[in-house]
Amino acid sequence: MEKISIAIDGPASSGKSTVAKILAKKLHYIYCDTGAMYRALTYLAIQKNVDFENENGLVDLCLTHTISFKQTEKEQLVFIDGNEVTEEIRQPNVTNAVSIVAKHASVREKMVELQQTIGRLGGVVMDGRDIGTAVLPDAEVKIFLVASVEERAERRYKENQEKGIKTDFTTLKKEIEHRDYLDSTREVSPLKQAKDAVKIDTTGMNIEEVVKAIEEVITVKS
Ligand code: C5P
Repeated sequence: MEKISIAIDGPASSGKSTVAKILAKKLHYIYCDTGAMYRALTYLAIQKNVDFENENGLVDLCLTHTISFKQTEKEQLVFIDGNEVTEEIRQPNVTNAVSIVAKHASVREKMVELQQTIGRLGGVVMDGRDIGTAVLPDAEVKIFLVASVEERAERRYKENQEKGIKTDFTTLKKEIEHRDYLDSTREVSPLKQAKDAVKIDTTGMNIEEVVKAIEEVITVKS
């Protein structure tokens, strides 16, 4: 089968990265977690004391530092200038600021450039908020994953517990809602279902069921 591009978008904690990783592995495709790129930039801004509203300062960080990935059997490692920051970028200080950093047009321009370079290699599963609408508008398969906020908060809560990150459930739910609000109301490439995307509501579904549902879409579309 010819290698295609698979775009998976959706709100926070809708299970995008979990299923994208599984699909990429099954298909022997590249997995690209675009959220991790915005997170790495946010982490860098915190380290370098660059204000989240300082668009030019953030673009400067993009130009002077290198964000890279390494896929291992277990997970995707994230690096800034060769230093691993996989865990650091998942901490609440980054999570709660990333949507501010990601709203800037010129920051997105830089990130999209990078993502499209990866996308051009073909055989890619890319997840994010604007993959089907802006990054890979010609992707053969576009999926829009949604789930109730209650369930998404529960998933993130469990994930945090496993990683040893302490969070309060109600606060977590509010933070997810707030991040979705910022991501879907920003001016540039807001979180939105592409016209030709297939929407899958994963509420009450387990990971295997979601992967199977996406595989069915892939079979039909390719
Ligand atoms: O997917 P994840 O939750 O790690 O994404 C973190 C944040 O990065 C999102 O809340 C959003 O603000 C931003 N993002 C984005 N566009 C993407 C991927 C992520 O704006 N394609």
